[in-house]
Amino acid sequence: MDMDWKNLDFAMRPTAGSIRLDYDGQTWSEPAVMREATISLPIGAQALHYGQACFEGLKAFSLQDGGVGLFRPEMNARRMRQSAERICMVAPPEALFVEACLRAVELNLEYVPPYGTGASLYLRPLLIGTEPLLPVMPSSTFTLLVMVSPVGPYYQDGFAPVDALILEGYDRAAPRGTGQSKVAGNYAASLKSTLEAKAQGFPINLYLDAREGKYVDEFGTSNFIAITRDQRYLTPDSPSILPSITNDSLRQLAKDMGLEVVQAPIPVSALEQFVEVGACGTAAIITPIASVTYRDKKIRFGNGEAGPVLTRLYQELQSIQYGEVDDRHGWITRIKPTSQRPHHQ
Ligand SMILES: Cc1ncc(COP(=O)(O)O)c(C=O)c1O
Repeated sequence: MDMDWKNLDFAMRPTAGSIRLDYDGQTWSEPAVMREATISLPIGAQALHYGQACFEGLKAFSLQDGGVGLFRPEMNARRMRQSAERICMVAPPEALFVEACLRAVELNLEYVPPYGTGASLYLRPLLIGTEPLLPVMPSSTFTLLVMVSPVGPYYQDGFAPVDALILEGYDRAAPRGTGQSKVAGNYAASLKSTLEAKAQGFPINLYLDAREGKYVDEFGTSNFIAITRDQRYLTPDSPSILPSITNDSLRQLAKDMGLEVVQAPIPVSALEQFVEVGACGTAAIITPIASVTYRDKKIRFGNGEAGPVLTRLYQELQSIQYGEVDDRHGWITRIKPTSQRPHHQ
């Protein structure tokens, strides 16, 4: 495959195809290869009108030893089931979800960026309600699609910190709403505030809790993490944030490094105490945050460069993902040729 691997951005590119599974109201079909990049849907499909759609994001990496590994797909399988449950959808059993992801990578092995390029294959499993119904009620049929795209190293210019903005006029998710779920509507609702933050010169915006506007929730597509002067790893405990798999992994690595990990509500007034702040998620692992602007006040963290603790955590997780160090927590699922896999039950 002739591709400029080192200069890929985070975009959707044509590949060998996707994997498709259908639920007919009773059972899931076996994963099937879909070569075309379009699907045909009833105009009345519940996903289109009432937002019965949820999705996942995970990555496959070329490993140092020449293999290909998928990072913690069972966690995405579980989270998709939780998202689906919240909006009355039927998601595939975890093993079938993982199987579909593995098949999508196998189908696109030539699109998995080579080891050493810093790039990876992004997988986007999407679950939609397909039944055409006029009333607001759950679909009884669903389709899972796993599409993929090779994506670049997130940091073309190194691990560079960005400035964040708290826009008080917008909430991301209500406390008893769908903030913990990766449902399509959450992202539609975040577009306007994201554009407004960008127009003001901030590449990323930070949301506060919707009930009181007093606590840090998360960024638009990533969790909030912070390091204190006394070497604690802090991240919000909130009912309206997405449980990030990257954050879960970083918490484990932070514990391994001897840091105390604290999940607790973080008042916005506590921001000034942090020496390092990051936004964490699958796309970039960690985006260092240089400052947060809140009510015309710019709160800066460190000296404008990525701090030592977050840098170490970033490098450690990346080394595990590329198979450069021992996979001590069993986070990598290796891709095996189809012939070596058991048939799905
Ligand atoms: C709202 C939100 N928070 C956090 C994350 C990070 O989650 P993960 O680490 O599982 O990619 C994402 C991306 O999936 C997201 O969309």
